[in-house]
Amino acid sequence: MSAEESIYLPETATIVDTKEMTEREKLFEVELDSGEELGHEPGQFVELSIPGIGEAPISVSSAPTKEGHTFELCVRAVGNVTNALHRKEKGDKIGIRGPYGTSFPVEELEGRNLLFIAGGLGIAPLRSLINYVIDKREDFQDVNILYGCRKPCELLYEDEVEDWRTNDELDYRETVDECPDDVCWEGNVGVITTLIPGVDIDVENTYSVVCGPPIMYKFVLQELEEKELPAEQIYLSMERRMKCGVGKCGHCQINGEEGEYYACQDGPVFNYADVQGFEEAI
Ligand SMILES: Cc1cc2nc3c(=O)[nH]c(=O)nc-3n(C[C@H](O)[C@H](O)[C@H](O)COP(=O)(O)OP(=O)(O)OC[C@H]3O[C@@H](n4cnc5c(N)ncnc54)[C@H](O)[C@@H]3O)c2cc1C
Ligand code: FES
Repeated sequence: MSAEESIYLPETATIVDTKEMTEREKLFEVELDSGEELGHEPGQFVELSIPGIGEAPISVSSAPTKEGHTFELCVRAVGNVTNALHRKEKGDKIGIRGPYGTSFPVEELEGRNLLFIAGGLGIAPLRSLINYVIDKREDFQDVNILYGCRKPCELLYEDEVEDWRTNDELDYRETVDECPDDVCWEGNVGVITTLIPGVDIDVENTYSVVCGPPIMYKFVLQELEEKELPAEQIYLSMERRMKCGVGKCGHCQINGEEGEYYACQDGPVFNYADVQGFEEAI
């Protein structure tokens, strides 16, 4: 086998637990059969494969500080690979390549106020950093988490979110776009940007970390600009359709006036100042 081929060879891994989170999303706890830790940083992703079906990039949703050597993936069933994965059970085998891509710059974030803004499934990669920050709470200053989804039944990580709501060391705020009349919901109703004006932002010392559906970025960034938060203090996790995951195939290319980025290698985590001029990116 050539070295070129070997980078595409997945490692065998076992699903050690699954948890149904919503109608569309399941959490998978996975262990590499080698017994090694995955060795990821918050924000990175893996290429997950199902033999005979294909591969899909999936963010690692657990923190590197999590105890034990398993890691977690929160997966929405949308297509071939993810539906096949949802049919898998505890004990079944999958393939894993990675971890790949850039990560949130934890050292740069240390000692800062953090403003997390997560929309929908965007909470999956952010949870890796949120749990890292909770595990190393003394290394960071104020922590605000804004989390929005379409309806209350789409809220992910319900048990953990309950801990965030009651954690005195976090300021957690949530919103849904709409709430059916027969559902009890004490959070805000409105899109996620409606939560931003209510947050105190110290522009000297706050970093914001944003992940959500493509439509969300433009409006969230407008609100952060309104608050005068410098672009250099905003990190975005952005998804693109990917194939190889390792900068070889060009599928994930983002073009801009100053050049091009590969979302799998230069991202998925980008500093906003670096992609601001890339109309295609936002
Ligand atoms: C860095 C990164 C991290 C990610 N993290 C997660 C995560 O944590 N959890 C998660 O659930 N998902 C995540 N995703 C998204 C996931 O990789 C995609 O949804 C992936 O396509 C699922 O693979 P699939 O085979 O199940 O679906 P596919 O068969 O690829 O189909 C997915 C959807 O895209 C449509 N589609 C298929 N091909 C195309 C095309 N060429 N152009 C436009 N639309 C097309 C399909 O109709 C379907 O609606 C991530 C993606 C990236 C890039
Ligand atoms: S997915 Fe192949 S270059 Fe990014």
